[in-house]
Amino acid sequence: MADVFILGIESSCDETAAAVVRSGEELISNVVYSQIATHQPYGGVVPELASREHLRAIVPVVRKAIEDASRTYETIDALAVTKGPGLAGALLVGLSYAKALSYALDKPLIGVNHLEGHIHAVLLEERQNGNHELEFPVLALVVSGGHTHLFLAERRDAAWTYHDVGHTRDDAAGEAFDKVAKLLELGYPGGPVIDYLAQHGNPQAVKFPFAQIKHRDRNPQNRHADDAQRVDFSYSGIKTAVLRYVETHEMRANIEQRRRVLAGATVPSREQVLAACDPPTLDLVASFQRAVVNDLINKTLSAARAHGVSTVLVTGGVAANSELRSSFERRAAEEGLPVLFPSRKLSTDNAAMIAAAAYPRFLAGEYADPELSADAGLRLR
Ligand code: KG4
Ligand code: ZN
Repeated sequence: MADVFILGIESSCDETAAAVVRSGEELISNVVYSQIATHQPYGGVVPELASREHLRAIVPVVRKAIEDASRTYETIDALAVTKGPGLAGALLVGLSYAKALSYALDKPLIGVNHLEGHIHAVLLEERQNGNHELEFPVLALVVSGGHTHLFLAERRDAAWTYHDVGHTRDDAAGEAFDKVAKLLELGYPGGPVIDYLAQHGNPQAVKFPFAQIKHRDRNPQNRHADDAQRVDFSYSGIKTAVLRYVETHEMRANIEQRRRVLAGATVPSREQVLAACDPPTLDLVASFQRAVVNDLINKTLSAARAHGVSTVLVTGGVAANSELRSSFERRAAEEGLPVLFPSRKLSTDNAAMIAAAAYPRFLAGEYADPELSADAGLRLR
């Protein structure tokens, strides 16, 4: 089959990204413009600022992806763009630009679900490494700043479908990392800095128990016939538990001191943050990470057993976490279950995953119609 070059565009949150992928199996170029410095002072993503930054970055980012691929706009076969879920204003920037480009170049446009993109980040790299055969059934844990979802993924011919078998009832796991980092004045985003600091603390110092979620989801839309096999997550409680621990262990002074020390740097280095943490803070951070990592692994492996799966994929920003990767690999190996991660670069938001997810849809001729619009709450099925 002839090579198919797809230009992917992603702007759902705080990364403006564009990439060229060949036939869903080779990453040709991958450009990610991160807005961390813009949002850092606020300790989280400010939606209006995200849209403004996407507007500024989209044209140069796409141009660079084409140049890095040593291609021209004319030698691209199709465009793919994230249509949701994400921040509505942010999504619209990428979507409007992709639509205009597709119209001007007279090339087909494919709308891609961001979560499907995260799953295909793993598949792209597996194919790139020569692994073209996956053992089904496949269970995918998509764990990021906005999502903590378990999907059973199926493939019929080239087409993929997804069945939601568990998700968070409240905060996403990445959101918990970000909120705890904000509470402890460790900077934004929380995941990478906590990942680093946790290596310097005692993960057994503080116990954070996680309850099994047995009650039915209050939202009827989220109920399924096979509720008995569902494995749901909840991460808002641990954030409150960390806050309570801070208050009962007189940690406020250290937090305030850190805030003052780090206020001087726009984006403090992780070494600067480490130097500003006392041992109890490092122990707290390491214990928090251990609790979240163990909960993610326990619940994913329990879903894997319940559904008799043969392969587990772990993807999304939190999949970049060192402890999650090493513990997951060890625990899955004990059960004889292969677990696949994307490289760290493709764990967090990027457009290569969007171009890769679009390839089977390109083959099936599933092109977007001109009315395609952003859907902030888009579900994956
Ligand atoms: O996939 P992503 O880039 O954006 C969303 O779709 O949300 O994920 C970003 C999230 C943030 O919450 C960030 O703190 C978290 O992923 N993250 C990490 C790590 N790197 C990024 N969490 C834990 N450990 C990391 N190393
Ligand atoms: Zn994402």
